[in-house]
Amino acid sequence: MPDIASASALQLVPGVEGALKKAIESGRNSALNLWVAGASMQAVLTELVSALESIDDDLKCSIMLLGEADNKLYSLVGPNLPENYSMAISGVDIGPTVGSCGASAYLKQPVIVADIQTHPNWQPYRAICEQHQLRACWSHPIFSANKKVLGTFGMYYSSVREPSPQERSLIAMEANIAGMIMERMLAEKSQETARQSLEREVQRRTQELTQSNTRLREALQQRNEVQQQLLEIENLSALGTMTASLTHEINTPIGVAVTALSHLQNLHDKGQKQFEANQLTRSALLQFYRESAEAMAILERNLQRSAELVSTFKQLSLDQHTQHKRLFNLCDYLWEILLSLKPKLKQYRLMFCLDVDADLEINSYPGAISQILVNLIINSMHHGYQEGQKGRITIRVSQQQQELVMEYADDGKGMNAETIERMFEPFYTSARDKGGSGLGMHICKDLVEKLLHGTIACTAEPDNGCQICLKMPLINSDGSK
Ligand SMILES: Nc1ncnc2c1ncn2[C@@H]1O[C@H](COP(=O)(O)OP(=O)(O)OP(=O)(O)O)[C@@H](O)[C@H]1O
Ligand SMILES: [Mg+2]
Repeated sequence: MPDIASASALQLVPGVEGALKKAIESGRNSALNLWVAGASMQAVLTELVSALESIDDDLKCSIMLLGEADNKLYSLVGPNLPENYSMAISGVDIGPTVGSCGASAYLKQPVIVADIQTHPNWQPYRAICEQHQLRACWSHPIFSANKKVLGTFGMYYSSVREPSPQERSLIAMEANIAGMIMERMLAEKSQETARQSLEREVQRRTQELTQSNTRLREALQQRNEVQQQLLEIENLSALGTMTASLTHEINTPIGVAVTALSHLQNLHDKGQKQFEANQLTRSALLQFYRESAEAMAILERNLQRSAELVSTFKQLSLDQHTQHKRLFNLCDYLWEILLSLKPKLKQYRLMFCLDVDADLEINSYPGAISQILVNLIINSMHHGYQEGQKGRITIRVSQQQQELVMEYADDGKGMNAETIERMFEPFYTSARDKGGSGLGMHICKDLVEKLLHGTIACTAEPDNGCQICLKMPLINSDGSK
């Protein structure tokens, strides 16, 4: 029995000559041409076996493929075998006694059955073979280069027949050529399958990536919208705080002005009556002048104060609402912010220590700075001290190179490590029961980082106050101040 190596080239097989050799060569050549032209494995192998069949009318060839996963043989090629026969044997398990092909695939050697009707291997298929006049079946395993069984090559005749040595060589050779074709084509197919599945995977991943990018973009947009809304809410609430403060602050000078005006009115009425009754003495007139001048001075001072308060409020509320950049005196501005908080601060006994150069002018966003400071002070009041408790808040501003450093410190009850770590998270609050929303510090951080392009950091310890350090550049990225 010739093995794969000895059957690998036609010229190595001495017994194969003449018509047989020519048939095999022409079958191999036209199969190769078809292969190069891109035909399917079935078409290429059909071409191969058809050339062989053409030299003997009684010969019917078949090629079966061994399923890698299930070890069953499947009909692949059998151009002249009856279709229902091919179907009947397709899917057969391989085994030492399964027909000719099942046995040769299992035993890895040729299995020659000269008479199907008497050979025990064929017992289950005798009837169908008789029906289609298939009497002899010679089968040879089809090997890959490394001797793995890929399938079987079979030759059927209608009469009882034993192969000659030449024919044995022929079967081996044909099986060998089929093996070379099948191995390459199966490899190409599995490469193609792998390429297609890779392509599908790449497509799937690309699609997933696109979808997750879209989701990310939407989430980012949503977050920006929510943040914008939060800033607006915060602006409005800061505006509300200031309106309440202004109403309170302005009450005093306007009240004093009203009193001064009514005093002036009285002086005027009294003087007029004295004059009409011819009782207006020189000294009474002098007193009228003196007292009315005083009343007018009080009126002027207090109306002036009210006007100042109104303009401060106008500027603060404008800053709160519009976040415009402008040049302003930081020291004056910080005082104005403290003034706007005065009524709220009255419930606490807090002392403020402002350490800032009186002439320091900066080009920045006063609205944002006011919003941040108001939040810090209100946090100190709400979280650092009990009502009525004494405390000290220090605000120190320094300029370090092109950076403005604002150090804010209270000496209240401080914070534990968890609060320090989480205080800038949105909705983190230790005072939910007292109406805290947990947005104050988050908004501060947002304003510092996004608008002022700076940093904010907190250090604190339980019972040892809280220190917040803000740093912001005084030079824009384009180099302007
Ligand atoms: N000066 C401080 N002293 C002690 N704890 C503070 C101080 N500032 C902030 N905290 C802690 O940080 C938490 C978060 O502060 P944040 O301003 O973000 O929220 P809130 O004040 O609770 O609520 P909101 O400001 O939205 O009304 C507070 O709940 C508090 O526990
Ligand atoms: Mg707060």
